[in-house]
Amino acid sequence: MAGYQVFVGSRSPDRAAEAAKMIAQTAKRPVRVSGLSNENAVSQADVVVITVPFAALIDTLRIVKPRFRPGQVLVNVSVPLETSVGGRATRTVGVWAGSAGELAASVVPSTVSVVTAFNNVSAELLKDLSKTVDCDVLVCSDDENAKKIVLDLVKGIMGARGFDAGALENSRTIEQVTALLVSLNIRYKVKSAGLRITGISPVS
Ligand SMILES: NC(=O)c1ccc[n+]([C@@H]2O[C@H](COP(=O)([O-])OP(=O)(O)OC[C@H]3O[C@@H](n4cnc5c(N)ncnc54)[C@H](OP(=O)(O)O)[C@@H]3O)[C@@H](O)[C@H]2O)c1
Repeated sequence: MAGYQVFVGSRSPDRAAEAAKMIAQTAKRPVRVSGLSNENAVSQADVVVITVPFAALIDTLRIVKPRFRPGQVLVNVSVPLETSVGGRATRTVGVWAGSAGELAASVVPSTVSVVTAFNNVSAELLKDLSKTVDCDVLVCSDDENAKKIVLDLVKGIMGARGFDAGALENSRTIEQVTALLVSLNIRYKVKSAGLRITGISPVS
């Protein structure tokens, strides 16, 4: 909707094409979206967003790893929820690297800049185009330029505000908040709990 060209990746190109079709129909105006295999989506995109369940994070990144190009940005949305080992979505599991974001950074080539973002944004909010997104987005990375690229992406989402949340190690805190939001969703019987930062103006 913000005008970017989007390549939806999937293990099944047919499923990706189906998702792209659904997105185009939902947009109700010309949009640049197509469906590809995960590998081809990584080859095509400048910014790669990974949103697989945590249990599939390492395997998926290993499969697409040969397709990364130097200078690409990888945005990790995956959160190490306990569901990855059959537990609850209101809890997380410990990750040796510190967080899913740092784990992702340890798998991809060092020429790829890893950013943590969108981990606290409900997919339900993002897909309802009739409403603005009532949620802030915490963005952290060890690469200032990559962080700026993702903060610019956030500006394309009506209602959302991006905040520079510092170094990639802050993924550890950001990812824990997701489990808390899931817990709030369950308690209040909604699917849209999110986060708003008060007291500071977002980065311009
Ligand atoms: N949903 C949310 O609102 C939300 C919000 C913030 C963060 N997150 C985090 O984002 C991640 C994805 O969440 P989700 O709700 O989108 O999960 P999901 O719907 O279960 O999975 C997303 C996609 O990942 C692929 N996938 C599933 N299992 C896989 C496997 N074993 N190996 C490789 N790919 C697999 C599937 O695509 P294909 O079958 O097409 O390959 C699937 O459509 C999670 O870590 C979650 O904690 C989710």
